[in-house]
Amino acid sequence: MKKLPLLGDITPAQFLRDYWHKKPLVIRQAIPGFKPLLSLDALAELATHDHVESRLVTAGGGHWNMQTGPLEAIPSTAQKEWTLLVQGVNLHDARADALLRQFRFIPDARLDDLMVSFATDGGGVGPHFDSYDVFLLQAAGQRRWRIGPQKDLSVIEGLPLKILSKFKPNEEFVLEPGDMLYLPPHYAHDGVAIGDCQTYSIGFRSPSYQELGEAFLQFMADSIDLPGRYADPELEASAKPAEIPRHMLATVAEEMNKVRFTEDDVTIFLGEHLSEPKHNVFFTGPAKPLAVGKFREAAAKKGLSLSRKTLMLYRGKNVFINGESFAIGRADKATLEALANERALPGTALATASEDVLDALYTWYTDGWIELG
Ligand code: SIN
Ligand code: CO
Repeated sequence: MKKLPLLGDITPAQFLRDYWHKKPLVIRQAIPGFKPLLSLDALAELATHDHVESRLVTAGGGHWNMQTGPLEAIPSTAQKEWTLLVQGVNLHDARADALLRQFRFIPDARLDDLMVSFATDGGGVGPHFDSYDVFLLQAAGQRRWRIGPQKDLSVIEGLPLKILSKFKPNEEFVLEPGDMLYLPPHYAHDGVAIGDCQTYSIGFRSPSYQELGEAFLQFMADSIDLPGRYADPELEASAKPAEIPRHMLATVAEEMNKVRFTEDDVTIFLGEHLSEPKHNVFFTGPAKPLAVGKFREAAAKKGLSLSRKTLMLYRGKNVFINGESFAIGRADKATLEALANERALPGTALATASEDVLDALYTWYTDGWIELG
């Protein structure tokens, strides 16, 4: 595999083998000449919306304060030691989306979002650890990072954000615009702004088994099939009417043990779960959608692309888009897999698409899941 400019001198395969989930990596000039994609005004504007997740952290003299968005206003840049953090910027800005997509050597099922932070001198979120892998790209100004592999991850009680009580860094460096730091999960770190600075966090998702298990049971509730009803033709008169009969317990346990799931169930559950948009993501279709015939003509000419907000995955014969699943025939497999992998389809690719797929594409277009061109 080719070297990826983002990773400096190493290939994605070498990065995954030697660093991913294992140890930190500083990549000097991962993106040479990188310039921030959004101004502070644009970031602050995003933070005023209630469908955008944002936080304002102010620090000073050992005190920590955190305000969650929507944020009406931010402090003046003349004030030191504050940080504005805006999550999911890729959903709102095409260039932020393109930056996130440069990390697709890691599967979409693991990629989460792009968070942008702006900080004034001395600003930061304090020494902490994250449960996820992260790439921290310095976008503007400088940030001093102190990091360490410590085992004691206890946090100070009673603070609005998680601050390590015994932070013991063993490395320190200053990142300049275009430099990038990769940190594996649970690696302690503290980044402090030197003057005004912007840092972009490329975040990953790794759902907990508890979260998956709870969602899987709900998913299975829709499909389990347990015919019959409890009966006790051999019932005898009871001297302890409040006690649950042994026979009842044994029979119900036997019936419950009949609940089974297949690998197909897990595939469909996982695809629907991972492609489900976050609660604050809303789609808007075109104001004046084309009629179906005109849509097909336009799509054949201009091609189609997925909306920035659309999550599309596949596995085997199943395709998942924004929480819905479809079983696809062999003929349509290549078309839909290309749409998912490239996040776009040339018009020519539609010539071989089945009526079912063309219908689905039209619905996705009117729902705002895909766009012409
Ligand atoms: C930041 O950008 O200020 C914080 C990122 C992090 O440490 O996870
Ligand atoms: Co962090």
